[in-house]
Amino acid sequence: MHIDRYERLFIYAAVALLVVFMGALAVSSFAFGIRVPTAYEKVDPRTVATPPSPWGLPAEERLRELSPGNYEVYLLGQMWQFSPNTITVPAGSRVTFYVTSKDVQHGFKIAGTNINIMALPGEVGVLTATFDTPGTYNFYCHEYCGALHHTMYGQIVVEE
Ligand code: CUA
Repeated sequence: MHIDRYERLFIYAAVALLVVFMGALAVSSFAFGIRVPTAYEKVDPRTVATPPSPWGLPAEERLRELSPGNYEVYLLGQMWQFSPNTITVPAGSRVTFYVTSKDVQHGFKIAGTNINIMALPGEVGVLTATFDTPGTYNFYCHEYCGALHHTMYGQIVVEE
């Protein structure tokens, strides 16, 4: 079968491009460990807010210090609040957020950072951030979730 020279060149170029993209994917996932933010685990939204679920603990016990400067927080979204809605950590802390919802779809965005995740019923989203600069970081729901969506916000207070 005769294929025009330029046509053949374009086929080679297209295949080479695919190989480059596949290589870039492989390097980013295996060498740099970059993962698409998918559900970390599944939970039952009907029972997620009751013990022994970690989102069933009182809000003030939802922030845990695992080791010095290393925290985890179990953040529950519901119409129309986050709990806990104030999280206080010392500067330099590394905080891992486990985010889910017990009713409808919510969002979780920390203003001025790249922390931005969906809070979905039945799924747990996980993100980690380090807070080096003292100050108050506002977070809010960025998925429309009903009449009082605009009141669904909280703060991360990073102390000196
Ligand atoms: Cu929750 Cu908007």
